Amino acid sequence: MSAQLEKKAAYMAGFAHGFRRQMFNSVPPIPADVDLAGKTVLVTGANVGLGLECARHFLRLRASLLVMAVRSLAKGEAAAAGLRADFPDARIVVWELDMASFRSVQAFVERCRRELPQGGGCMRRC
Ligand SMILES: NC(=O)c1ccc[n+]([C@@H]2O[C@H](COP(=O)([O-])OP(=O)(O)OC[C@H]3O[C@@H](n4cnc5c(N)ncnc54)[C@H](OP(=O)(O)O)[C@@H]3O)[C@@H](O)[C@H]2O)c1
Repeated sequence: MSAQLEKKAAYMAGFAHGFRRQMFNSVPPIPADVDLAGKTVLVTGANVGLGLECARHFLRLRASLLVMAVRSLAKGEAAAAGLRADFPDARIVVWELDMASFRSVQAFVERCRRELPQGGGCMRRC
């Protein structure tokens, strides 16, 4: 690591940078013309917290297929039931994924290859 990079990393990990970022930075607004119709969206940790809110937001943007990747199918289905009630026309599936398990990640990727529409490309990882 260069001396400059080391100095910058130390600053970015410190209180001053964190405070400045929290107080003065804001999340850029999402462009008004985003339309996910025809797109597949995959959200990990989608049963709760930020993942669930992301999933809800993608459905508002009219995503055609939402894949909720969760480590507990029971929790995932419970969250999906809430989303299906709010977005009755949406197609929502709940798939098992434990990111702490390489085997689970491999099985999940295989399932994506088998079952997801191909060629859509990745909009953004989040
Ligand atoms: N940079 C920032 O300023 C900032 C701010 C807020 C949050 N975050 C980060 O953003 C992430 C989400 O935050 P959150 O508040 O939404 O957290 P949360 O409510 O605890 O949700 C975490 C999600 O990840 C899932 N998960 C945990 N371990 C997993 C694994 N091994 N495989 C698959 N899924 C797993 C959980 O599933 P279960 O329900 O089954 O446990 C849950 O769905 C966290 O990593 C948090 O640290 C960052």
